[in-house]
Amino acid sequence: MRIVLHDTAEAARAFAVARIAATLAAKPDAVLGLATGGTMEPVYEGLIAAHRDGLSFARATTFNLDEYVGLAGDHPQSYRTYMRHHLFDHVDIAAARTHIPRGDIDPAEAAAAFEAALAASGPVDLQLLGLGHNGHIGFNEPSSSLASRTREKTLTRSTREANARFFGAGETPPHSAVTMGIGTILESRAILVLAVGAAKAGAVRGMVEGPVTARCPASALQMHPDVTVALDAGAAAELELIDHYREAEELRRRREADAA
Ligand code: F6R
Repeated sequence: MRIVLHDTAEAARAFAVARIAATLAAKPDAVLGLATGGTMEPVYEGLIAAHRDGLSFARATTFNLDEYVGLAGDHPQSYRTYMRHHLFDHVDIAAARTHIPRGDIDPAEAAAAFEAALAASGPVDLQLLGLGHNGHIGFNEPSSSLASRTREKTLTRSTREANARFFGAGETPPHSAVTMGIGTILESRAILVLAVGAAKAGAVRGMVEGPVTARCPASALQMHPDVTVALDAGAAAELELIDHYREAEELRRRREADAA
């Protein structure tokens, strides 16, 4: 894993935006894996700004990680609505090139259709991931099989509580979601994890330095050959080997400067 430490959340997000934009600039028909949640909102703002500066999404294809079971795509809290609001309606991507599991049909059917679409257009060139407080990636909650495929997963109480902020008064998040599996995520060519804030520090430590275990689903990323983790100081606070990560990045920067 490449661990990139930033002083601020803004800098970590800018790094993520630059990486995604560079992927698309180098390969205009790239397949992008996208995530939702609070962490990603400023990332999409950055991508919209890059689009205004000329970055085109017209030939890209996107696959989102997950969708709540029971919510149709036009429901205000669906992840389809989130993606339209935060990205798709502001860039030049056709809806037909954007894939999000359907929440309004039988979850097994939605999962099979999503995996089939991914098999037809994939693999994902760059998968963007946020990180749950409990170490989830997508909605692969603790106890998820590390080889899992897209399927329905029951959400933990803590995830439903964390996401209640996106729902209106009196509304609660659904009890389950269709999520890309961990095995599915690991088939991406490259993975970029963005985590900011001290509340994520324990999960970050589990992901980067913990044992590979279903207790912390993100720890499965240790098995992937091309994972970059962008962190702010809060999210990095519990890393034991933080000096080593800093030195490795410094060396990388020096080599890149020498090569330029
Ligand atoms: C959502 C997703 C989740 C979030 C995670 C962090 O598509 O895949 O894994 O990335 O729950 O959410 P925030 O960014 O709201 O803390």
